[in-house]
Amino acid sequence: MRTARTPERARALVRQWRSAGETIGFVPTMGALHVGHRSLLERARKDCDRVVASIFVNPLQFGPGEDYRRYPRPIRRDMVLLRDAGTDLLYLPQARTLFPPEYETRVSVLRLREPLEGASRPGHFDGVATIVAKLLAGVEPDRLYLGQKDAQQAVVLNRMVRDLDFGVRVVVCPTVREGDGLAVSSRNVYLTPAERAWAPALHATLRDAASRVRSGEARSAREAAVWMRRRLAHGPGRLDYAAAVDAATLGPASPGRPWLLVLAYRLPSARLIDNVVVRPPRGNR
Ligand code: PAF
Repeated sequence: MRTARTPERARALVRQWRSAGETIGFVPTMGALHVGHRSLLERARKDCDRVVASIFVNPLQFGPGEDYRRYPRPIRRDMVLLRDAGTDLLYLPQARTLFPPEYETRVSVLRLREPLEGASRPGHFDGVATIVAKLLAGVEPDRLYLGQKDAQQAVVLNRMVRDLDFGVRVVVCPTVREGDGLAVSSRNVYLTPAERAWAPALHATLRDAASRVRSGEARSAREAAVWMRRRLAHGPGRLDYAAAVDAATLGPASPGRPWLLVLAYRLPSARLIDNVVVRPPRGNR
């Protein structure tokens, strides 16, 4: 596995591969890699001739009081996982390389950045869109691999690459879960044993809400959302939001199109997000 620390170096290597007719798959990460990242790397390996991964803990996407400083950075372990997964190039830029003091630019996906995570974490998606635009400019991949776990991020970035003509195909891969349903996340390491034992309740709530939508017991997106809110009202933390929205646009859910059932929950040690996609029966509103 090669390592590039600057966009110039990453681009030079990738251009060599492309001029030999090879296709490039890109998996952007903030490190603290786990089986969820591994599944993205495996999919990229399957689809493309070359796999590029980046590790960069992006300061722009953390709000004040969030976990930027304590975000786990096990770089040696991450490099072993990347190597084992057959990664050809690790792009490992430094904050001062990507964001020198004179840096001025932000990328905003205006409407899609606002609801759900955007309402709880103002500025978060400008940070995500900005860094991913910069990483894409460095790596120039053919395909960008993202996880469904961060559903809104995938929708925002899909819009961004189209609006800004990046010419990259976005591939969204399924959420990887622990045996008890908890979505795998780098932040799960923060959970206390008691929180970890309770956390599968989030996926269970989404799963049960999805089956209520499918069976017609929840007759509208509003009913599904209210049901999830009631079910999580007495947990050990605080529900930030639970909603049912159109899976592609994040706007109002409508019959005949897939719904995203999505939530964020604040436990004392970590804030967790999760979602499922469900296709409502025709009669639902
Ligand atoms: O999903 C993540 O890990 C990050 O938001 C990303 C896409 C690497 C941008 O920093």
